[in-house]
Amino acid sequence: MLIAPSILSADFGKLNQEIEAVSKGGCDFIHIDVMDGNFVPNLTIGPVVVEAVAKATSTPLDIHLMVADNSFFVDMFAPLKPKFISFHIENEIHPNRVAQKIRDYGISPAIVLNPHSRVESIEYLLEYVDMVLLMSVNPGFGGQKFIPNVLDKAVKLKELILKRNPNCLIEIDGGVNDKNINQIKEAGVDIAVAGSYIFKHPQGVEKAIKSLKV
Ligand code: DX5
Ligand code: ZN
Repeated sequence: MLIAPSILSADFGKLNQEIEAVSKGGCDFIHIDVMDGNFVPNLTIGPVVVEAVAKATSTPLDIHLMVADNSFFVDMFAPLKPKFISFHIENEIHPNRVAQKIRDYGISPAIVLNPHSRVESIEYLLEYVDMVLLMSVNPGFGGQKFIPNVLDKAVKLKELILKRNPNCLIEIDGGVNDKNINQIKEAGVDIAVAGSYIFKHPQGVEKAIKSLKV
């Protein structure tokens, strides 16, 4: 399992140390939640902070957009050269265009589904993206409870992926911990995002990351 700590739950007063700790702790990506106070009822970080994160580590960045205007935010974050930029299907009427725009910047496009969104709704997008992010909570905040029916969705999605684009990865985000990681793995997920579990782990971030590497 590849692990992407979500810095939403990090201590922003010592962000540099937090980033270094998860990088040294063996994480595979740094997950960055961009919220605009419109698509979701929360407001997080902009390119100034993400640039500081990028400088603090050589670990690839995984930018998760939760915004009303995807195209605008793609232009804003693309210069930071993340590995992935993911955007939600629920607010995008031209997803192929946005995916192509991300690819034109040399970045891997990914599509995100909220917990209620059907995997069939993106079947014909699969060949144009490198990853699908399945939300296992309603986006907006860290520390929420995992919605277990996302595991059925992951199994269904895997079937569609094998048919349409076998190289496409599956990522899961929200409420991930050491109790559900084995089921997540069995459902065919490749990358697990975890925020509060990693950054608030009593034995430190390295132990937390190791416990998710199933
Ligand atoms: C929620 C974010 C998540 C969040 C995960 O909108 O997309 O990345 O930080 O946090 P935990 O792991 O605490 O649910
Ligand atoms: Zn996220």
